Amino acid sequence: MRILVTGGAGFIGANYIYYLKKQHPEDRIICLDKLTYAGNLSTLEPVMHDGNFRFSRTDICDREGVFRLFEEERPDVVVNFAAESHVDRSIESPGIFLQTNIIGTSVLMDASRKYGVSRFHQVSTDEVYGDLPLDRPDLLFTEETPLHTSSPYSSSKAAADLLAMSYWRTYGLPVTVSRCSNNYGPYQFPEKLIPLMIINALSDKPLPVYGQGINVRDWLYVEDHCRAIDLVVRQGTPGEVYNIGGHNEMRNIDIVKMICREVGKPESLITFVTDRKGHDMRYAIDPAKIHAALGWLPETKFEDGLRKTVRWYLDNRAWWETIVSGEYREYYEKMYHNR
Ligand SMILES: NC(=O)c1ccc[n+]([C@@H]2O[C@H](COP(=O)([O-])OP(=O)(O)OC[C@H]3O[C@@H](n4cnc5c(N)ncnc54)[C@H](O)[C@@H]3O)[C@@H](O)[C@H]2O)c1
Repeated sequence: MRILVTGGAGFIGANYIYYLKKQHPEDRIICLDKLTYAGNLSTLEPVMHDGNFRFSRTDICDREGVFRLFEEERPDVVVNFAAESHVDRSIESPGIFLQTNIIGTSVLMDASRKYGVSRFHQVSTDEVYGDLPLDRPDLLFTEETPLHTSSPYSSSKAAADLLAMSYWRTYGLPVTVSRCSNNYGPYQFPEKLIPLMIINALSDKPLPVYGQGINVRDWLYVEDHCRAIDLVVRQGTPGEVYNIGGHNEMRNIDIVKMICREVGKPESLITFVTDRKGHDMRYAIDPAKIHAALGWLPETKFEDGLRKTVRWYLDNRAWWETIVSGEYREYYEKMYHNR
């Protein structure tokens, strides 16, 4: 199979490429990535020179560039991870989120139609469902839950989901969509909660927690997400949406305390900062459909996944030290200084 993976120099896309390399070494992988601040070529260094792998620095909004790559590679399958993905950045500058997440997705689907791919898979998020109240643990997001977004990020992802389903209905493009809960694991950019806290704790820096830290997220180890996507791509039904989640709800503050314990640092490093605008209270996925249809279940327990993740950041300092010493530092100052 010839698989075009967009956004493969980012966190989940790169993990997916490594998953494919392990599980389907016969597949040809073409990685298309613009290399924004969140994309990192050093992440793909171990596969860059493989015969069955090609990297192309292309913007998914660049119609000509995207069509040229399709013409050259004729992919069978497209898995679209490329996105602006950070909620805080979407609150600061929504425009680029609309451009990449909506227009970029439409360009990829136009090329997929023209070149007749057998599957276009859109990687989406549970954030398209909005949030749930903290005092109703019985409520979970199913695929039937109405879309009800809170941030420019989640709105742009919801728009892309709707567009994807319309390409199935209108043009018969064989589309699938998966909506996953919060991921964690190796290669996650250090602005997201878990790597940010690990790296700050390792450097004895304050651990900035929004509000009172009581917001609840459903956490999934990235490899479990990759396995789910691969199942949907190979065995899922076109025109269907699949929720992916771990039944693993945690409050942010409890995660940060676990990280302190794991890294061996005091909880006194925790500092509470002004809450994010429109901060969603709770996300919780019901993964019953993907379990029943494709037999998928999460395999990594949170304690084990977090331990592996901390170990990875300890063993791969060079990877994140380059990031935190660069342009990212200015962004960090802007977001957390005096909040
Ligand atoms: N991280 C999570 O917890 C999570 C959960 C559910 C869904 N998702 C979704 O999964 C996908 C991947 O998320 P991630 O956390 O790996 O994101 P990421 O920010 O780590 O990576 C995104 C990648 O996309 C690339 N990119 C951005 N704009 C591009 C453009 N215009 N053209 C080509 N490439 C571009 C970046 O360079 C980067 O390599 C996203 O679509 C996101 O919405 C993420």
